[in-house]
Amino acid sequence: ENKPVPFEAIGEGMLHQLVDAFYNRVSQHPDLAPIFPDDLTETARKQKQFLTQFLGGPPLYTQEHGHPMLRARHLPFEVTPKRAQAWLSCMKEAMDEIGLDGPVRNEFYARLTFTAQHMVNTPDDGE
Ligand code: HEM
Repeated sequence: ENKPVPFEAIGEGMLHQLVDAFYNRVSQHPDLAPIFPDDLTETARKQKQFLTQFLGGPPLYTQEHGHPMLRARHLPFEVTPKRAQAWLSCMKEAMDEIGLDGPVRNEFYARLTFTAQHMVNTPDDGE
């Protein structure tokens, strides 16, 4: 019996809702808003592409932008442990908002936690 890839379990519609709800929170978060562009349209479009492939769907991000090299693409921004926590809390709240539940949510969130930690490139203030 074949387990569907997480992208199929979540569905494109729900994934897009999730990303929109997420950036809506990012744009209002005091620790995150300052390092993001004012207009998050393009950021959200790329994140939808990236998360589609991250969840086992078609490689939309790579087709348009090449290898993700995510850590390298984040080096121009100060990603502190505090900001990684803020990023994850916006994602958790977005999952709550759109009603993403169950094992697929937990596996997705665990992988995002791991990836967010990997993006950290700057210590918190005073460390
Ligand atoms: C881009 C911050 C974690 C995926 C960006 C940008 C910022 C940022 C400032 C640039 C936005 C733009 O100019 O459009 C952060 C912070 C994180 C974090 C503070 C905290 C740990 C993550 C994680 C993922 C991710 C965990 C994936 C699971 C992406 C992608 C882009 C991006 C795909 C677009 C890259 C591109 O320009 O092609 N992020 N990010 N980020 N981030 Fe993050």
